[in-house]
Amino acid sequence: MGPEMMLLLCTLFLLGARGISARDTGGFVQSPFRAEVWAADIQEPRGLVIDDAGDVLVVSRGVGIIALWEEIPNGRVDRTTVVPNWDLNHGIAIYDGWLYASTNTTVWRWRYYPAQRQNAIGMEIVIRNINNDYQGRPLEGHATRSLAIQRGILYVSVGSGSNVDADSYRARLRSFDLASIPWGGYDYAQGIVFADGLRNEVGLAFDTQGRLWGVENGADELQRSGLGGDIHNDNPAEEMNLFDGPTGTFYGYPYCWTEYDLPSGVGLGRGTQWAWPSLMNGTITDNWCREVRNNRPPEITMQAHAAPLGITFYNGSNCGSFLTSSSSFSSGNEINGIQDLFSFDCEYEGDAFVALHGSWNRNPPVGYKVVRIRMNATSGLPTVPVTRNVLDVFGRKEPLAQCGDGASQSCFRPVDLKFTAQGVLLVTSDNTGEIIRVVQDSSNGKSPGSSSDASRIAVLSGYISAIAIVFSSLFYHA
Ligand SMILES: *[C@@H]1O[C@H](CO)[C@@H](O)[C@H](O)[C@H]1NC(C)=O
Ligand SMILES: *[C@@H]1O[C@H](CO)[C@@H](O)[C@H](O)[C@H]1NC(C)=O
Ligand SMILES: *[C@@H]1O[C@H](CO)[C@@H](O)[C@H](O)[C@H]1NC(C)=O
Ligand SMILES: *[C@@H]1O[C@H](CO)[C@@H](O)[C@H](O)[C@H]1NC(C)=O
Repeated sequence: MGPEMMLLLCTLFLLGARGISARDTGGFVQSPFRAEVWAADIQEPRGLVIDDAGDVLVVSRGVGIIALWEEIPNGRVDRTTVVPNWDLNHGIAIYDGWLYASTNTTVWRWRYYPAQRQNAIGMEIVIRNINNDYQGRPLEGHATRSLAIQRGILYVSVGSGSNVDADSYRARLRSFDLASIPWGGYDYAQGIVFADGLRNEVGLAFDTQGRLWGVENGADELQRSGLGGDIHNDNPAEEMNLFDGPTGTFYGYPYCWTEYDLPSGVGLGRGTQWAWPSLMNGTITDNWCREVRNNRPPEITMQAHAAPLGITFYNGSNCGSFLTSSSSFSSGNEINGIQDLFSFDCEYEGDAFVALHGSWNRNPPVGYKVVRIRMNATSGLPTVPVTRNVLDVFGRKEPLAQCGDGASQSCFRPVDLKFTAQGVLLVTSDNTGEIIRVVQDSSNGKSPGSSSDASRIAVLSGYISAIAIVFSSLFYHA
């Protein structure tokens, strides 16, 4: 075999390496990020987790749990169903050899090992009767039951039964000890009320210090005379909450709400706590809501109705590293060429990323994007006050007029998001049936430092050894 053949083989391998280049997402991408469709044609992908082997598990509504993985080296994304259960609707977690997922009444678990890629067996009930205890009322209201697990404790978030319930009985985060699951599962009402007064805390995530955070979807149809009448377009704020207080800390719903943007002259500033008009009485007042011992306010506010459904923190895994070269495009401006792709830069370590599903009852629609919240590594809190805007990462381009409820199929609606061990962000979009991959683009001069060069050399030497293996096997068989 001559040098020409060697060159041809090399080229084939390098072409393979950039096989992960994918379709444009058709939206805006904030520098230095870059977003591509990693997997498509998934029926309503919702909650997302990544196992220790790197397989991506997603709850696909009406299907069950699907595992997806990238073939090395051609980058093709393969998939298989690991749990065929069409009632699973959002929540998913992996912990200690078990895969957990939820329907609107039940939390189930199955035996699971990384890269299993076949039907999970050993199904058990962890929690049952999620709705049946609501003061004798039938199943109603928000249907997702988000799951988060740490140190043997399962946290389950259940949203309100209606827009504004009479009390917070449903709207809570409960915790369950996985070491002592009773036969047949816990009755939901047996859970400890870990945090109270959370209208619909869909997104849950642990930060790099191991503290639990959540993102909350605020109420609709807010009207309050004296504050501008119909103020629902920009109030109440969506919230990012920290659960580090005493067990059972109360976060406001349904009595208190958070100001996002009130008409000038009446507003007291973003983040201010107010009482819900129909529930105000001698006890529940604006002043009552402003007492932190009655009502814990959020750490971050977000645009009303933006609908935060997912939150994750970047732990800095593989930060600032060269990933691969990819044939490139740039949104709305096709450029064909080869571009170097990088993992998230180390400056994002500790930061929170939130998926905003987008509004259904606001004109014009808002949300439909992924945002970043910078965190201070020392304090473990956001670097900016509650009054500041969150930072855009990527999302759907304006105009959003065809989004909203009954949105057209092309409307990108992010649900959940997780970082891979390679420092790449994956985001589900239920409406488009996609998983989007977000990386960083070297052309912004952000990260290619010496460590990146080192990893580029590592990747190249990986190819060279692969070529050597192919060579030796060719010779061996010849
Ligand atoms: C609960 O889930 C079942 C099965 O998927 C579905 O038929 C029912 O409509 C759901 N109920 C609510 C209130 O979401
Ligand atoms: C006000 O409403 C709250 C919540 O429903 C209730 O606990 C409280 O007793 C009421 N206070 C008065 C003075 O009516
Ligand atoms: C981070 O938090 C620490 C401790 O609260 C504070 O001293 C420091 O100024 C903060 N740094 C930034 C960049 O906000
Ligand atoms: C950081 O997150 C990645 C996945 O995003 C995980 O593989 C890795 O174990 C985590 N590292 C630590 C120190 O927790």
